[in-house]
Amino acid sequence: MDYQNIIVETHGRVGLIRLNRPKQLNALNDALVDELGHALDVFEADEGIGAIVITGSEKAFAAGADIAAMANFSYMDAYKGNYITRNWERVKTCRKPVIAAVAGFALGGGCELAMMCDLIIAADNAKFGQPEVKLGILPGAGGTQRLPRAVGKAKAMEMCLTGRFMDAEEAERSGLVARVVPAERLLEDALETAKTIASYSLPVVMMIKECVNRAYESPLNEGLLFERRTFHSSFALEDQKEGMAAFLEKRAPQFKHR
Ligand code: CAA
Repeated sequence: MDYQNIIVETHGRVGLIRLNRPKQLNALNDALVDELGHALDVFEADEGIGAIVITGSEKAFAAGADIAAMANFSYMDAYKGNYITRNWERVKTCRKPVIAAVAGFALGGGCELAMMCDLIIAADNAKFGQPEVKLGILPGAGGTQRLPRAVGKAKAMEMCLTGRFMDAEEAERSGLVARVVPAERLLEDALETAKTIASYSLPVVMMIKECVNRAYESPLNEGLLFERRTFHSSFALEDQKEGMAAFLEKRAPQFKHR
């Protein structure tokens, strides 16, 4: 596929997707989100890729869904066209770990896209927000659901109701982002983190991702049972034998299923 709205690169075992609509601050239109989904399909199918990074520009990760594209939507355009659900869900269904490397604005759908990823690394100039209320709409790609899970009800409610932005320092303090790094080191840091993840056994990494996500979707006892069964199944992996043998033999592991 010839991409017009994203730039795709590989860095060793890491797939990098740069959102690339600079004039619109990476506003997310259907074409961009379709391309993002296609790039994820390609990386997911590629045995040489163990983790994926999604990033934007220094000024904007993404300033939200494309307002110009939806300004004249009717209810039927949105509902029958399955707006958001049709193509945004691909990020959520990716089985390989996805890191959002966020600099600048991550607003509305941009904040929601970042939250769909498995973890967010933020530049010190990052700004997160759900300003949809100012447009006469509400968050539509998970903002009212994922933000409270990340930062708690009080801050999520305040951000969604007032449109206030949260800076990187507050986002880290509130648990929205894993780490804040100087803007000039963002990509290097995110790629390094992704490379570390991609150096481990891929099935184990996928199991961990599945288990952590289960914590958000099930009662504690069900989640613990799911984790325990998955943990038991890890003993069927050649990489478990290799990982533990390498530890006992005081050498680096050579994971087969990367
Ligand atoms: N959609 C379409 N175009 C956008 C956009 C968006 N979400 N955000 C920015 N742009 C465009 C601007 O229209 C402008 O285009 P022109 O140069 O052609 O006028 C260009 O990007 C640069 O933007 P600004 O001149 O506004 O730049 P700024 O530095 O002064 O302000 C900003 C930056 C604070 C991010 C401001 O652009 C802004 O508030 N953007 C909208 C943010 C927003 O409301 N996002 C939510 C969208 S709705 C949504 O996402 C729904 C959902 O849940 C899925």
